Amino acid sequence: MQEAGHTFLARLGKTKLRPGGIDATEWLIGQANIGPDTKVLEVACNMGTTMVMLAQRYGCSVTGIDLDERALDKARANIGKNRLEDSLTVVHGSAFELPFEDQSFDIVINEAMLTMLPGKNKDRALAEYARILKPGGLLLTQDVCFRTDDVDQQRELRRGLSRAINVSVEPLDREGWKSRIESHGFVTEQKSGDMTLLDPQGMVHDEGTDGALKIMFNAMKQENFEMFTRMFRFFNGHKDDLGYVANFSCRTAGATA
Ligand SMILES: C[S@@+](CC[C@H](N)C(=O)[O-])C[C@H]1O[C@@H](n2cnc3c(N)ncnc32)[C@H](O)[C@@H]1O
Repeated sequence: MQEAGHTFLARLGKTKLRPGGIDATEWLIGQANIGPDTKVLEVACNMGTTMVMLAQRYGCSVTGIDLDERALDKARANIGKNRLEDSLTVVHGSAFELPFEDQSFDIVINEAMLTMLPGKNKDRALAEYARILKPGGLLLTQDVCFRTDDVDQQRELRRGLSRAINVSVEPLDREGWKSRIESHGFVTEQKSGDMTLLDPQGMVHDEGTDGALKIMFNAMKQENFEMFTRMFRFFNGHKDDLGYVANFSCRTAGATA
C-alpha cells in the first residue's frame, strides 16, 4: 500500500499535519474558553501534538483517539517526554464509533480528518460528535476547502489531491462545510485562508526554522524526493483553488445523534 501523505510528512519530521496550520488551530481554541476542568476529546490526534499543547497551556485533560496505532505510539512517547501522563490519554479507535458515553465532552477537536472521509462517512463522524458533546459543547475542525464553485474543476482538484497524498479525499467548499456540520445540530462560524501545510513560509511558521530545515533535509533524500516533490507541486500549484476552512461549531440543545 502506498504511504498516505500525512504519514509521509510525519516521517520527514512534520508535527502539524493540517491545512491551515497552527494559525487556524489558534483561531479555533482561542475562542473556546478552555480551562483546567474542560473535558476535551481530540479525534485524529495522530502523534499528540495538539493534546500536549492544550494540556501545557490550559492544564486541561484531553483524550485522544486515532485509527493509526503507530501514530499513537508516537503520541504516547510525546506524552511521556512531556510528563503529561496524568492529564493525557490516547485510545485506538474510529471516529465512526467513539467508545464514549453520550454528552460526555465539552469540546471535540478534529483537524484534517473529515476531508479524508467520502460522502456519508462525514455524517457518521459528525453524528458521533453531536452524540458525545454536551449541549452547548464545541466542535472545532479545520479542513481543506474548495475556492471554486465550478463542479468540473472541483472534481479535478479532488482527483489531483487524492493522487498527491495517496488518500481518497473529498473536500467541500466553504458553504458546503457549514451546511454539512450544521445539519447535525451545530451552529457554525468560519474562518478560511491559504493552505500553509507545504508552503515554505508556513512550514517555518508551524515547525520553526530548525524543524523546517530538518523536513527539507529529509525531503531531499532519494527515497523521499519523488513523493515530496509531487505533494509540494500540487499544494503550491493550486493555492488559488484550494484553501483551508476552520469551523467553530456550537452544539445546540436540540441536536440528536
Ligand atoms: C492529516 S492527519 C491529521 C493529524 C492531526 N489532527 C493534525 O492536525 O496534525 C489525519 C489523521 O486522521 C486519522 N484518521 C483517519 N480516519 C480516522 C477515523 N475514522 N477515526 C479516527 N482517526 C482517523 C489518521 O490516522 C491521521 O492520524
